[in-house]
Amino acid sequence: MDKFLIEGGKCLSGEVRVSGAKNAALPIIAAALLVRGPLQISNMPALHDVNTMLKLIACMGVDVKDTGDMQVTIDSSAINSYKAPYELVKTMRASILVLGPLLAHFGEAEVSLPGGCAIGSRPVDLHIRGLEAMGATIVVEEGYIRAKIDGRLKGAKIFFDTVTVTGTENILMAATLAEGQTIIENAAKEPEVTDLAECLIAMGADIQGAGTDTITINGVSELQAASHSVIPDRIETGTFLVAAAMSGGCVTTRATRPDIQEAVLQKLIEAGAEIETGDDWIRLDMKGKQPKAVNITTAPYPAFPTDMQAQFAAMNCVAQGVSHVKETIFENRFMHMQEMIRMGGKILIDGNTATIEGSTELKGAPVMATDLRASASLVMLALVVKGETLIDRIYHIDRGYENIEEKFQQIGGKITRISATN
Ligand code: UD1
Repeated sequence: MDKFLIEGGKCLSGEVRVSGAKNAALPIIAAALLVRGPLQISNMPALHDVNTMLKLIACMGVDVKDTGDMQVTIDSSAINSYKAPYELVKTMRASILVLGPLLAHFGEAEVSLPGGCAIGSRPVDLHIRGLEAMGATIVVEEGYIRAKIDGRLKGAKIFFDTVTVTGTENILMAATLAEGQTIIENAAKEPEVTDLAECLIAMGADIQGAGTDTITINGVSELQAASHSVIPDRIETGTFLVAAAMSGGCVTTRATRPDIQEAVLQKLIEAGAEIETGDDWIRLDMKGKQPKAVNITTAPYPAFPTDMQAQFAAMNCVAQGVSHVKETIFENRFMHMQEMIRMGGKILIDGNTATIEGSTELKGAPVMATDLRASASLVMLALVVKGETLIDRIYHIDRGYENIEEKFQQIGGKITRISATN
């Protein structure tokens, strides 16, 4: 297993190009299953999770052409299987995103239950109930969700009692080919949901209200070939900005979108950062200062994202003052805190709230990456504290960050990948 060796104590400054958003790319790949004909996707990030999703649809007989330069063309004309096998689904929960498109287009789908996850139980009951409300017959047996429909799915009113991102995306995709109107209430408003909707509209879907909590879809009989560019990754953007703030440095993120970053930018300003933005860039300048600790509570978009919680926890460890970090989306999403404590972080956990006392005494230590964003937070902390840190199990980070070590090296981070073969 690869590891990162990091020499800390560096001030980060320079420019980073942000990649396409993982959480937009994954549903958009699944959306290619809704059309017989090519869907050309650009600004596709080179990530393990993206490869897994492409592998998943390729094993159904779908033609996947990686034309290089962040472009992928997918054509599902030759599809010959509607099964997402356990071996692939177990490595990536987002595989569930093929359920809605397969069912809506081909009338059947067999998707392995995603199973346990490091950051909580994360059920998929809302996806299943939504599709059942649209007339699907679904049984869960032998570890698989087996779904069928006679004819077309039927439009329905679907109310989510919990805001679910991939749940909203699954129903949204399914509804594009359903008979009649579907209304999703308490829908996720994440920009990645809106990006998916824009891709579907380019394919000929009739969708109104994406980006609000009520999405209305009027089903059409078929969708057409189209092309779409994936939005920039707001979590990657935020990760580099927070890292810059922790180090007292000045970093500009390019090819990004400030308008989908409000909650994070506000917290960085509260921490003492100067933020400047243009159409597609964000510059953070800390002017050599230590950040001030900030309280955060995670909640669905447009509130503070759970995917940025670990990074802000890392910043609060080296900030001035005491902070409270509250996680309301996922249970058990504090595993990075234990590793931060190994580096000298002063953290007390009580249920879903961590109290962090900032300190300048943290030091590098051997630590273990536990999930995707947790891994990023450990890299960030290691880059700015004194001493050397060895981070094990970094395969988590490769799932969702493109060339993270190269990007940190570009802004002055001392980070080396130690390959398992070395
Ligand atoms: C997506 C993102 C992930 C992000 C999360 C929350 C992708 C590929 N992943 O994950 O990066 O951290 O949104 O912003 O886009 N829930 C149920 N039943 C369901 C579905 C969800 O109870 O059927 C609960 C979950 O356990 C969780 C909450 O709803 O407590 C939100 O989860 P959800 O938005 O579905 O997360 P994902 O879509 O899996």
